[in-house]
Amino acid sequence: MDKSTQCSDFRPAGRLGSIGVSEILKIGAAAARLKREGRPVIVLGAGEPDFDTPDNVKQAGEHAIRTGKTKYPPLEGTPELKAAIVEKFRRENGLSYAPDEVTVSSGAKAILYNAFMASLDPGDEVILAAPYWTTYADIVRIAGGTPVDVVCREENGFRLTAEDLERAITPRTRWLLLNSPSNPSGAAYTEANLRPITEVLLRHPHVWLMSDDIYEHLVYDGLDFVTAAQIEPALKPRTLTVNGVSKAYAMTGWRIGYAAGPKPLIAAMAVVQSQISMACSVSQAAAVEALNGPQEILTERRLAFQRRRDLVVDALNAIDGIACRKPEGAFYTFASCAGLIGRRAPDGTVIDSDATFCRYLLEQHDVAVVPGSCFGLAPYFRISYAASEESLREACARIARACVALS
Ligand SMILES: Cc1ncc(COP(=O)(O)O)c(C=O)c1O
Repeated sequence: MDKSTQCSDFRPAGRLGSIGVSEILKIGAAAARLKREGRPVIVLGAGEPDFDTPDNVKQAGEHAIRTGKTKYPPLEGTPELKAAIVEKFRRENGLSYAPDEVTVSSGAKAILYNAFMASLDPGDEVILAAPYWTTYADIVRIAGGTPVDVVCREENGFRLTAEDLERAITPRTRWLLLNSPSNPSGAAYTEANLRPITEVLLRHPHVWLMSDDIYEHLVYDGLDFVTAAQIEPALKPRTLTVNGVSKAYAMTGWRIGYAAGPKPLIAAMAVVQSQISMACSVSQAAAVEALNGPQEILTERRLAFQRRRDLVVDALNAIDGIACRKPEGAFYTFASCAGLIGRRAPDGTVIDSDATFCRYLLEQHDVAVVPGSCFGLAPYFRISYAASEESLREACARIARACVALS
């Protein structure tokens, strides 16, 4: 046999543990396979706006290519983008940062990776408010830390309470990670919700706060977005505020995320980044235009998302067995399917979990959604309503038919 085709014994690094490719990507792949087979699957799994990148932003990217902004960019971001980020934090969040307190990376995900790699030692704990974006726990593990899940119950609006936070803090706690509005629950924290949490953190000076604000611009019903460093300046010296252009400006493919925080942390993150990669120079130029250019598109899109949210929440709540809290932000609904557990599908399958329910929806009713168990809270399922109203209406009708067919 040709030696080049023989399988070698590959042993993955121990640090990967049981971490695999994200469940959400697997559902996306299963849906894509069914589509290739000709099935009319509606995919409501992706965390990606269906809108296009605004034209002015695309033009800024084209201009960057034509004018030779195609060389290695500076390690922590171009001066123009860092200035735009400093100005964004001042204008939108009332936060004042110097350029060396700001860093840019290839997406907010890379920012989180740099921050955890730069700060965690084996055994260091990171408190995560479940349900949460599973990437958090996986990056913490890769960085050698220990994720500590705190379940945020639906009765509390899927928000972390001060009491639960207090109980979870140990001498090994390094970070609390908060994400508002949240992926997957859509829950957002008002100042009144955040204040008790900041008070707990003030009592525990060894705990730092990572605030993932990537869905900042997607808040509804006139809710005022607030971030922790803004409402509690005493926490600013130990807060990393993470954001990016992916969701607000429909720029997921451009891969630009950024953060602001204390200089020593930002410098340590640069050490990690220096051995991976800087953010694409062309994308950085486009992100400057996104942050500095006209912002009206944010309002238009926010209103479109709000309409879609209302459509989906109303349709889900009309289905026997499903109950959906109205989320304050992001583009996800996180509905309970507890009322369906124990029911039986026409082929005899018993719906014994949210994962089985989601598999049933995909395989027998052509709708791809993600089980709550993927985010650390069951039995729920997440719908991403970043899709046209027409496909959302059709998807909800299919889910209703699927539920009626259960006995
Ligand atoms: C909560 C949250 N944070 C961060 C990100 C990462 O965004 P990006 O890496 O595209 O900037 C996502 C993307 O799905 C997310 O849902």
